[in-house]
Amino acid sequence: MAEAEKKVILTGDRPTGRLHIGHYVGSLQDRVKLQNSGSFDDVLIMIADAQALTDNADNPDKVRESVIEVALDYLACGIDPTKSTIFIQSQIPELFELTAYYMDLVSLARAERNPTVKAEIKQRGFNGEVPMGFLAYPISQTADITAFKANTVPAGEDQEPMLEQAREIVRKFNTTYGDVLVEPEVLLPSREACKRLPGTDGKAKMSKSIGNCIYLSDSAETVAKKIRGMYTDPTHLQVKDPGKIEGNTVFTYLDAFCDDRFFAEYLPEYANLEEMKDHYRRGGLGDVKCKKFLNRVLEETLEPIRTRRHTYEQDIPGVYDMLAAGSAYAESIAAHTLSEVKDAMRINYFDDASLMHEQIDRYADR
Ligand code: TRP
Repeated sequence: MAEAEKKVILTGDRPTGRLHIGHYVGSLQDRVKLQNSGSFDDVLIMIADAQALTDNADNPDKVRESVIEVALDYLACGIDPTKSTIFIQSQIPELFELTAYYMDLVSLARAERNPTVKAEIKQRGFNGEVPMGFLAYPISQTADITAFKANTVPAGEDQEPMLEQAREIVRKFNTTYGDVLVEPEVLLPSREACKRLPGTDGKAKMSKSIGNCIYLSDSAETVAKKIRGMYTDPTHLQVKDPGKIEGNTVFTYLDAFCDDRFFAEYLPEYANLEEMKDHYRRGGLGDVKCKKFLNRVLEETLEPIRTRRHTYEQDIPGVYDMLAAGSAYAESIAAHTLSEVKDAMRINYFDDASLMHEQIDRYADR
């Protein structure tokens, strides 16, 4: 099969802590499905530690510890190292070489225009001193994706601007140096509520720094407690009061996690989520009952993940071996692409004899 026709997935996460249910609905569950569909030639999942360092340069310990947390979360969710490759970004030097060349194709103004980066800079502040690496991380992300000629990037909505910038770089590279790189597409979750799951406080995004996350590794008790404290409709004071669904986190989570089959099992008075929502809107359905149901629904997903995680936690050396093997495999692909890139840019002085002969001829003509 010609390389360009290959179906390749590349995606990843920054290791700055354990993964939460926003990561799960936003991308992890799709990755597992895509991996098991068998319709991809290669599925590569990257732990983006170098990207995490772009705004954690002063805290490498946090990043290092989070690498293993993220790997455990991946395995717990059902990423299967016999079907997918899990690897660590910093172990693939080729990615940083590619990044250096791609930086020449992006203006400073374009880098500053990336809406996700802009929002993150605003949120973090950086005391007005944005690290170069942070501003450039979408360019480095383009290297991550193109090194493997990935066409599909399963990710949340916040990654769309990254993919747009990646496609721009690919087009510029290919028109300048010749067709080498593949234009990637983002693959968003099909359910609207999964694209950007709010935090338990109803805030826009689940974020470690706000403390509004439900982690995949949380115990059943912790999950129950977080659900009990969840934001609903502040005007829905008594059971009989009519309630609002929009912006009500319990219902947003149900939108993301619930299927009709859960009603038959746990809440048979409703056939589906629409009927339950109607009752809530009319009044007469209390938050406690909704939260108990949500807890049951979430546990259907989280319980098997937790159990699998515990198994892998007993074999940390095995997890590191898996990561080392994955990184070696990933590097072999990235090295191949880098050599094609250098060929196209005509900077592979020692591999291509014609580059030296050009110079011999130039001198001969004098
Ligand atoms: N930016 C992604 C995140 O915030 C992580 C990431 C790095 C990534 N490189 C990538 C995602 C390449 C998809 C493709 O989690």
